[in-house]
Amino acid sequence: MKVLILTGSPHAQGTTALLADQVCVGAQEAGHEVICIGTAKLNIHPCLGCYHCRNYDGQCVYDDDMKQIHSQLLTADAVVLVTPLYYFGMTAQLKRVIDRFFAINSSLRNTSKRLHLVAACGDNDEWAMDALVVHFQTLCRYLHWQEGEKVLAIGAYTREDLKDSDYPMLARKLGADL
Ligand SMILES: Cc1cc2nc3c(=O)[nH]c(=O)nc-3n(C[C@H](O)[C@H](O)[C@H](O)COP(=O)(O)O)c2cc1C
Repeated sequence: MKVLILTGSPHAQGTTALLADQVCVGAQEAGHEVICIGTAKLNIHPCLGCYHCRNYDGQCVYDDDMKQIHSQLLTADAVVLVTPLYYFGMTAQLKRVIDRFFAINSSLRNTSKRLHLVAACGDNDEWAMDALVVHFQTLCRYLHWQEGEKVLAIGAYTREDLKDSDYPMLARKLGADL
């Protein structure tokens, strides 16, 4: 199976990078082909909403790094979104990638995939990720993708907070069970 991991944190050594690494290890141990793309460091413009892609066969006015994500997306069997919680949602870095799905919407909606979510946040409130989870579920529904597993690491401001937690193990398991 081909697994595409899209990470949305600007921190190369942050909490979600650690969790993404664990997903990757679990998935590779299970024999999957894994492609992990750190979206925050890429040159990806936010969608202009110009509808050029609608009139020109999915071609975007921007010639940027979204091209590589589009091609990986089309051939992936499973997609894992990995993001820190920023004001109760995914990061803008990852959201701009999701918005750019727009150019290839119909192809994406016609390919069967499973979407998974891995997220970390500082707060300990059990409701902290509710809005993010609803967004994730709504994306699955809209794209006609199966709703996959979630690892929601609450109380995890930094890597230190993950040290004595089960979250790294759960992320590895998510990867292994893909
Ligand atoms: C701009 C910004 C917004 C944040 N918003 C939230 C939030 O709404 N709730 C929360 O619990 N933590 C919030 N945090 C904390 C991060 O989600 C948390 O530190 C996370 O582990 C960072 O992941 P990273 O190290 O992979 O970047 C925020 C952090 C930043 C920088």
